[in-house]
Amino acid sequence: MTAAAGLLAAVDGRRLLDRLAALARIGGLPGGGVTRLAYSPEDVRARELVAGWMAEAGLEPSVDPAGNLLGRRPGGGARGLLAIGSHLDSVVEAGPLDGAYGVVAAVEVADALARAGVRLRHDLVVVAFSNEEGARGTPGMVGSQAIAGLLTDHDLAVPDAEGVPLGERIAASGGDPGRIAAAAWREPLAAFLELHIEQGPVLDAAPAVVGVVTGVTGRANVDVHVTGVANHAGTTPMRARRDALVAAAELVLAVQRLGRDGHVRVATAGQISAAPGVWNVVPGAATLTVDIRDADDARVDRAIELLREAAAGVAARTGTHVEVRRGPSVPAVPTDPRLAGAFAAAADALGLPRLDLPSGAGHDAQVMARLGPVGMAFVPSVAGVSHSPRERTRPEHLVAGANVLLNALLTADLDTTLDTPDDPAGDAA
Ligand code: HGY
Ligand code: MN
Ligand code: MN
Repeated sequence: MTAAAGLLAAVDGRRLLDRLAALARIGGLPGGGVTRLAYSPEDVRARELVAGWMAEAGLEPSVDPAGNLLGRRPGGGARGLLAIGSHLDSVVEAGPLDGAYGVVAAVEVADALARAGVRLRHDLVVVAFSNEEGARGTPGMVGSQAIAGLLTDHDLAVPDAEGVPLGERIAASGGDPGRIAAAAWREPLAAFLELHIEQGPVLDAAPAVVGVVTGVTGRANVDVHVTGVANHAGTTPMRARRDALVAAAELVLAVQRLGRDGHVRVATAGQISAAPGVWNVVPGAATLTVDIRDADDARVDRAIELLREAAAGVAARTGTHVEVRRGPSVPAVPTDPRLAGAFAAAADALGLPRLDLPSGAGHDAQVMARLGPVGMAFVPSVAGVSHSPRERTRPEHLVAGANVLLNALLTADLDTTLDTPDDPAGDAA
């Protein structure tokens, strides 16, 4: 139950909704929706706007070398950080809530505690992770990987879809890639709590208002490179062709079969390109970018093997060469039962119908799990739509979710089993 009386529904709902609307105007698109790519001027403007809100909430804002925005408030000395937050960057033609909702709600939670004069036992850190989406063509969850100490110089050198290395993007947007190691949290993490829209149909259909997340899906990115022979579209007989795009098209269907035939929960070929990309030239090269996900990492591994087998068959049939390159993978992560319990108790205390569900979307929480216990809660996405300008959540659900986060945080703060043990080697900080 909530530690401090009168805090049950203390979030300023009107301001939460107004701030979400203000954020949605940064990178806002004419027909609705948002494009706020990581490290873009819009991303930096959003970060600056939220930093001001953090300061208003009594948090000390700072930007770390990876471009994460952190707002910190000291607690009463209990060991281990309590962190809440999400991300501000978006995919292309996104909705206004993916990530932004969890950041704005976290700031409102901190503000509600400040207004009530409640000091937590633990230091509180509100986080806006940089580049969760990876929408520029390099892997996502960059900011949380840096906080977990997992980002390498190799990662920083990887060029994105426009050929710009990740490190340059970070530097251009106010980070300091040369000091990326300093972004790693050296203090222990007592718990990380992330509030997010479901981005799927389950809660809306149930119906339920709160989703208590049982685990976050594992996933792997795979690049498929097809090499054929470019040739004249008018003179090359059909049987003499080594058409890389035809081979890639067959592989798109092979990817779909991995999911549709139950080998993995979902498999998507989200991106295809062909070269030279001219209408009267038989494509000599083609690339697919594939996203494969499942709660069981072994099933993801097996699905990639099946894709390799399918690729060998397509290559033989089309006279092309096909290379299947496994890219970055993020392991499936269970949430901590204590934090799931805290979210469930908060929903019950607020009289909100809830249900347990896994997350089909990836989240920074699954990276933060490398540092300590994580918990997630969802609010419904209308018709399950997300990564689309049609993404929407009912305002009353957005406000309710923020109050759930507030109460779950208070419960976690009082759970002494989450207090991190004194580091026998002395504070690594
Ligand atoms: O792709 C995802 O699951 C997340 O939205 N980045
Ligand atoms: Mn997303
Ligand atoms: Mn997200």
